[in-house]
Amino acid sequence: MTDKTFYATTPIYYVNGSPHFAHSYTSVATDAITRFHRLDGRAVRFVTGTDEHGQKVEQAARAAGVQPAAFCDQVSDEFRAMGRLMNIAIDDFIRTTEPRHERACRALWTELEKRGQIYLGEFAGHYSVRDEAFYDEMELIDGKAPTGAPVEWISEPNYFFRLSAWQERLLEYYDENPGFIQPVARRNEVISFVKGGLRDLSISRSSLSWGIRVPGDDDHVMYVWLDALTNYITAAGYPETESELWKRSWPADLHVVGKDILRFHCVYWPAFLLAAGLEPPRTVFAHGWWTVEGQKMSKSLNNFIPPAELVDRYGLDPVRYFMLRELAFGNDGDLSSAALVNRINADLANGLGNLFHRTLTLVARKCGSCVPEPGQFAEEDMLLLRGAADLLANVRANLEAFALHRALEAVWKVIAEANRYIDEAAPWALPDNDERVRTVLYVVAETLRGIAVVIQPFMPDSAAALLDQLSIAPEARDFRSFAQPLTPGTNLPSPQIVFRRFEQMAPRERRAMDA
Ligand code: MSP
Repeated sequence: MTDKTFYATTPIYYVNGSPHFAHSYTSVATDAITRFHRLDGRAVRFVTGTDEHGQKVEQAARAAGVQPAAFCDQVSDEFRAMGRLMNIAIDDFIRTTEPRHERACRALWTELEKRGQIYLGEFAGHYSVRDEAFYDEMELIDGKAPTGAPVEWISEPNYFFRLSAWQERLLEYYDENPGFIQPVARRNEVISFVKGGLRDLSISRSSLSWGIRVPGDDDHVMYVWLDALTNYITAAGYPETESELWKRSWPADLHVVGKDILRFHCVYWPAFLLAAGLEPPRTVFAHGWWTVEGQKMSKSLNNFIPPAELVDRYGLDPVRYFMLRELAFGNDGDLSSAALVNRINADLANGLGNLFHRTLTLVARKCGSCVPEPGQFAEEDMLLLRGAADLLANVRANLEAFALHRALEAVWKVIAEANRYIDEAAPWALPDNDERVRTVLYVVAETLRGIAVVIQPFMPDSAAALLDQLSIAPEARDFRSFAQPLTPGTNLPSPQIVFRRFEQMAPRERRAMDA
């Protein structure tokens, strides 16, 4: 029996444009979750990649005056580079133009056809290239898609998937698997959409050539969303359903998506899978939408912020921290330079950074740069140590509930308590090497060890720098070693500043950055 791997994915990103802040957000959030599970001793498979077919990408290539294949190579590389920039620890990067994916898509199509789930018909309706989605007349608002995207009328022969036949089964599935769609508000949205009635779905295009050919009918390419969603099984080894990779990976444990692509992941995708006799993923988690300085990110407003711009200015981990802490995971939020600088200064420079630096400076000065030998613990010492010892369970529970921001909140609560504790104990005013000085500094250093260990999934490099300063061996940094306290007498290197402070920008400068 193969052990089930925790298999998690991000959406595969359209290559019609370069990566921006919101793409890196989806990747960072999934990265924090998968890093947590890895440190917690689970086997993990984390897959991301690029969505390269369809009309939107074809049009972007044409506008750039490049062949679609060459255009995709170039932009897909930018997404790979974004992953490296953001320190995303992936196991596989999938491109929908790869042969393994074409094979999986054609196998899935053939399976659906064999099971009587596909028929040829005539499509006449509205299509939005921006959303790569079909819309009914009734759904349009002022002649536009409900998302505000322009639509065009298309009328052509299309293959259809019998989605309408799956309405009841889907509703049952949501009912039997309450954790399938999260957060709960999104679940309710999907349920009411499905209850409203499902129509058969067009799953091919005959007026387009940039896509995967339909088996047995070269005049059609597959609808880009059928093609795109299939990436999740391609990367799990489909159609080799007897393979070890498949058995340990599928069903996926988690698809992290933005709330705009909920319907594709929570209605079409489980219907395709059930219709092909495959299990749906265990959870689809939809995160919220970022605005920039209060405005929607859009090409016309020219406010698509490339993640490199923020990372160059503030450093990687402060940006990762901001993303995961500023916004309750699942809710919408706003990216502004003022909010970023506030978070970094308050939580990282003044909060964690200052506590770390002043503690280790005192250890160096008063205890000869070694982990001090504590004396008898008083009530307040035990209180802080217990708060730190509870952190792992606390962070784990929050991560299991996808409350990434709450996990960080819990850590920063302990940081605030430790700051209060050291202020009250005032070890700087006590004689060198005095028993109370040793005890207080030990208690804070041990608390900092717990903090540094649990923040690794969120800020891997900074956590490593903090753990280096506590002389924690690399093999003692996973969660199995969490309960192993600092060893008194261990030599500590000289303290270094890990988080710096930033000046708030003047409004004019800020506008320039956000433009
Ligand atoms: N290619 C499809 C996904 C196919 S998955 C089988 C797609 N790509 S995308 O590049 O447009 O978007 C990728 C992710 O970025 C989505 O989860 C989307 O929700 C997210 N975001 C894009 N803009 C966003 C914001 N402004 N805010 C938050 N996330 C948003 O959709």
